Amino acid sequence: MGWYIHHVNLPSNDVPKTRAFLRDVLGFQTGDWCYPEKQGELHHDDNSIAFFGSGNRGIHAVRPIPTFAADNGFVHNPTVGGHFALTVPDLKPVMQRFDEAGVVYSDAGIYAMAGVQQIYVYDPSMNVIEINQLHDQSGGAPPPTEDEQHGIWMEPGDWYIHHVNIPSHDVRATVAFFRDLVGLTEGVWAYPDQVGDFDRESDALANFGTENRGIHIVKPDPAFAMKNGFKHNPTVGGHKAFTVKDIGAVIDRLNKAGIDYTDAGTYAMDGVHQVYVFDPSFNFIEVNQVA
Ligand SMILES: [Fe+2]
Ligand SMILES: [Fe+2]
Repeated sequence: MGWYIHHVNLPSNDVPKTRAFLRDVLGFQTGDWCYPEKQGELHHDDNSIAFFGSGNRGIHAVRPIPTFAADNGFVHNPTVGGHFALTVPDLKPVMQRFDEAGVVYSDAGIYAMAGVQQIYVYDPSMNVIEINQLHDQSGGAPPPTEDEQHGIWMEPGDWYIHHVNIPSHDVRATVAFFRDLVGLTEGVWAYPDQVGDFDRESDALANFGTENRGIHIVKPDPAFAMKNGFKHNPTVGGHKAFTVKDIGAVIDRLNKAGIDYTDAGTYAMDGVHQVYVFDPSFNFIEVNQVA
């Protein structure tokens, strides 16, 4: 089954500030949102959403709306705590497997993005996950190709979503969720020659995708930053990772803006130079460059 990461949702207490960070420091370009004919209670305005990407794919930076779930009749509130969204060819078998397993999900229908049916569900560690299906291409993004495992979708400004990292206290349970219920195939990690100090056992680290792109499932390690000489601990609270063409230019802009970061070098993924930083709302962000 083909799939890709459609977007990442970053909660933001100050959307204009987050927009400025993504545009001026990371170097991304804002895009145009494509609405469906019938909209839910989205609360969208310039102070509640910033969009970077194309065809509704990319980054959705949103102001948390406490009443969003109640306003729309959902179990889950996708505006609180952030989430990421997977696109699959067909939601029906996924929902059927959730039903059989007794997993509660919110079927939002097509309510926020043109042509996109969205469902929300908690993974076993209570991370909100969105899974969606494109019913037509009015939103502008094509469906996943048959064998796609999160291929590269280059966005305006020359960047793409590389991976999402989700924290899990039972990595094998989370793997089983994505494998047996969502229907993905577990991937194989590609390590660099010089590996940092972290647990590589399958109960501490797993992934779905190709060439380390996709979903990373990681058991939080309190000592991870200290062991690797980092300022930031990428295993706690999860993170979203974006690939850019020139990591040096991003580092220059972080320095100019006086924003603290960790330059981790190439330590976990073959050929990938990773930098860690918090966005203005303290979402953990990885920016990397692939050699
Ligand atoms: Fe979403
Ligand atoms: Fe990462």
